Amino acid sequence: MNSSNSYLPEPARIIGIKEEVTGQRAIKTFRTQFINGGQFSYNCGQCAMLSVFGKGESMISISSAPYVKDYLQFSILKTGRVTTALHEMEVGDIIGVRGPYGNGFPMGDWKGRSLIFIGGGIGLAPLWGLLHTALQNRSEYSDLMLVYGARTSNDLVYKEELRELKKEIPVHLSVDTEEPGWDEFVGFVPENVKDKVKWPQNSIAITCGPPIMIKFAIMALKEMGFEDERIYTTVENKMKCGIGKCGRCSIGPHYICKDGPVYSWAKLKDLPTEY
Ligand SMILES: Cc1cc2nc3c(=O)[nH]c(=O)nc-3n(C[C@H](O)[C@H](O)[C@H](O)COP(=O)(O)OP(=O)(O)OC[C@H]3O[C@@H](n4cnc5c(N)ncnc54)[C@H](O)[C@@H]3O)c2cc1C
Ligand code: FES
Repeated sequence: MNSSNSYLPEPARIIGIKEEVTGQRAIKTFRTQFINGGQFSYNCGQCAMLSVFGKGESMISISSAPYVKDYLQFSILKTGRVTTALHEMEVGDIIGVRGPYGNGFPMGDWKGRSLIFIGGGIGLAPLWGLLHTALQNRSEYSDLMLVYGARTSNDLVYKEELRELKKEIPVHLSVDTEEPGWDEFVGFVPENVKDKVKWPQNSIAITCGPPIMIKFAIMALKEMGFEDERIYTTVENKMKCGIGKCGRCSIGPHYICKDGPVYSWAKLKDLPTEY
C-alpha cells in the first residue's frame, strides 16, 4: 500500500464474485485487485477494512493465503448496510480497501505440531488462508484436520473446495439438524469435535465461528485435555478505525483491532467478557 494516511482506502477492483450461500444468510466470496497494481503483504488471520462509497466500512478477514499474490479474497455474510451494498456489487466495480490490520495467527510457534481447524458458518473464512498456508508448508506441521459445520448444508461455504480438500486431509462436516441426502455428522460443531478429534496430544486447535460455537468448542477441547495455550480463536468485536485510535473495539486495556483479533484461550480468558 502506498498511502501515508492509514485511514485512506486504496481503490480495488472486484475481479471475481462467487455465490457461496443463497437465501437469508447469503454469503459471497469476492476477489479484488488494487487498481494501482500495488501489493498487500499480510499474515494469516489479518483483516482489511472494506469500503463502499456512500455506505461505510466493514472489517473483513482476508480469506486468501498470503502466498497468493494475484488477488485478495474476502468472504462476506450479508448482515447490514455495508455488507448488503457489497453483495449488490458486480465484477468490475471498485471498492476501497485499507489494512492489513490485526496480529494474525502465530504460525511460527506451531511448527512440528498437528493443527486442528474448527469452523462454524462464515467462521471458516478467517481459517481458510491459514489452512492453505499450512498445506503449502506441509512438512513444517504434523497432521492437519478440519472440523466444519453450519446450520444447513446450504450454509456451508467453499463447498467445491471442501470436496477437493478431503483428498488431502481429514475434513469432518456437520449440519445442525437432519436433512435428506446428508450422510455426515448431524449436530453442533463442538459435538463433532468430540466425536472426531482423536489426537489431542500436542495439537493446536484453532476455532472461529459464532461466539456460542466458540464457547462450546473451547469447553469440548478442554474436556479432551487441551491446555489453554493450545487453543486459539478470533474476537470479532465491532470496529471503526481499525488502528487502535477510536476505542470502539476495546476490551479492558486491549484494542482488538491491534492486539487481536487472534488470541490464545490462555490470554483471552483473563480479559473482561465484553466479546
Ligand atoms: C476482525 C473481524 C473480522 C471479520 N471478518 C468477517 C468476514 O470474514 N466475513 C464477514 O462476513 N464478516 C466479518 N466480520 C463481521 C463484519 O465486520 C460485520 O458483519 C460487518 O461490519 C457488518 O456491517 P454492515 O454495515 O453490513 O452491518 P450493520 O448495518 O453495521 O449491522 C447489521 C447487524 O449486524 C450487527 N453487527 C455488525 N458488526 C458486527 C460484529 N462485528 N459482530 C457482531 N454483530 C455485528 C449489528 O449490530 C446489526 O445488528 C468481521 C468482523 C471483525 C471485527
Ligand atoms: S477499531 Fe478503533 S480502536 Fe479498534
